[in-house]
Amino acid sequence: MQKIVIQGQNKLTGSAKINGSKNSILPMIAASLLTSDEVVLEDVPQLRDIVTMTRIVEDLGLSTTYDKDTRELKIKFENEENVTAQYDLVKQMRASICVLGPLLAKRGRAVVSLPGGCVIGPRPIDLHLLGLKALGADIRIQHGYIQARAKGLRSGTIHLLGTFGSSVLATGNVMMAACLAQGQTIIRSAACEPEVVDLANFLNTMGARIEGHGSSEITITGVKELHGTRYRVIPDRIEAGTFLMAAVASEGDVVLKNVKIEHLGLLIDRLKTVGARIDVTKKNEIHVTRSGSLKSIDFTTLPYPGFPTDLQAQFMALLSTAEGSSVITEKVYPDRFMHASELMRMGADITMETGMAVVRGVEYLSGANVMASDLRASAALIIAGLMARGKTEIDRVYHIDRGYETIDRRLAAMGALITRED
Ligand code: EPZ
Repeated sequence: MQKIVIQGQNKLTGSAKINGSKNSILPMIAASLLTSDEVVLEDVPQLRDIVTMTRIVEDLGLSTTYDKDTRELKIKFENEENVTAQYDLVKQMRASICVLGPLLAKRGRAVVSLPGGCVIGPRPIDLHLLGLKALGADIRIQHGYIQARAKGLRSGTIHLLGTFGSSVLATGNVMMAACLAQGQTIIRSAACEPEVVDLANFLNTMGARIEGHGSSEITITGVKELHGTRYRVIPDRIEAGTFLMAAVASEGDVVLKNVKIEHLGLLIDRLKTVGARIDVTKKNEIHVTRSGSLKSIDFTTLPYPGFPTDLQAQFMALLSTAEGSSVITEKVYPDRFMHASELMRMGADITMETGMAVVRGVEYLSGANVMASDLRASAALIIAGLMARGKTEIDRVYHIDRGYETIDRRLAAMGALITRED
């Protein structure tokens, strides 16, 4: 079991290049099941979640090769014998549910293990199943598996609105399936996240006919088949937001390259409010500095373009030493506060109830032994470690490697005293 060790209070300087988006790439790997041609994805980072998804599609008859130099992922069709996504792989990563739509559309049959919950919440899939049933799929749940079959999907009008708002991966799943369904499908209350837009753009380069992506109403006109493509994914806005907050936390002076400013608008606005200085230097570079104390701020997580739930933990860490109190309302995953108890071990003053946390700023955090519980909580603990006085040791580092490529080495290259130890 590896851990990350940080000596706090070193400023980050220099620059970092943001990688291709994990949450774009995962559904695109699943979408490769929709064609018998080769698919090439560009700017693909080496992440555990991406390896897991390639294993799942390999199990389903595709072959994949990753080139470390070009950072390209090549995916090729081999056979369509197996239509079952096994529990031992699916349980590792919720996004595996995205193979359901493509398998149904291309092969007319799918057996996918129920993904199960994770520490940030129950993670239901009712909207995925509702959407695919609306396209004519026959779906049953037996022995922990989704047994789905469809003799040719038909179009439909689908409302994909859950208790907590729209669903990113359910929108992706239904959109992928509708590409090969007969007729015109309309998805209402569709998710507007940039990764959904990226997936739609990717599918359109394969010959799909999708319009309205980025709005809450997406129209998909079914086609006979999809051909291969070569596609460069958008930069990872959550990685960019994490690096921005790490720079602010360390009172550093950093330039981030390969970012899409329009995907970070709200975060940039909030970071300026709390005291960071942020300039957009070129079309896709951000210069961020911070001197002087941080101010507190209230914020609520919401589906895009609201504040991203995937940056809530990182922002809580940053605000733990701001002047005053910050009220954090978590509307997407009300239980997503596992990181708070670890921050409190470092001296943060946080009170919580379901869906809400109040962070009272303290003068400083002190380094401690803490434990990562999930991907974004790990990032919050790294940010806290950069700010804290003394040494912080973060256990269960495999969580961070799911979504951030060699983050310790990249931060060390910017001046952080951070190492990885067995
Ligand atoms: C995607 O998960 C992301 N994962 C998550 O990022 C992100 O937190 C989430 O969207 C919200 O932005 C990937 O893209 C791989 P949702 P997804 O369906 O699609 C409820 C990370 O750190 N819901 O948009 O699974 C659900 O409980 C990960 O990279 C239903 O009720 O999330 C939640 O409250 C963590 N029924 C809300 O919708 C459903 O069928 C939004 O979830 C599906 C979801």
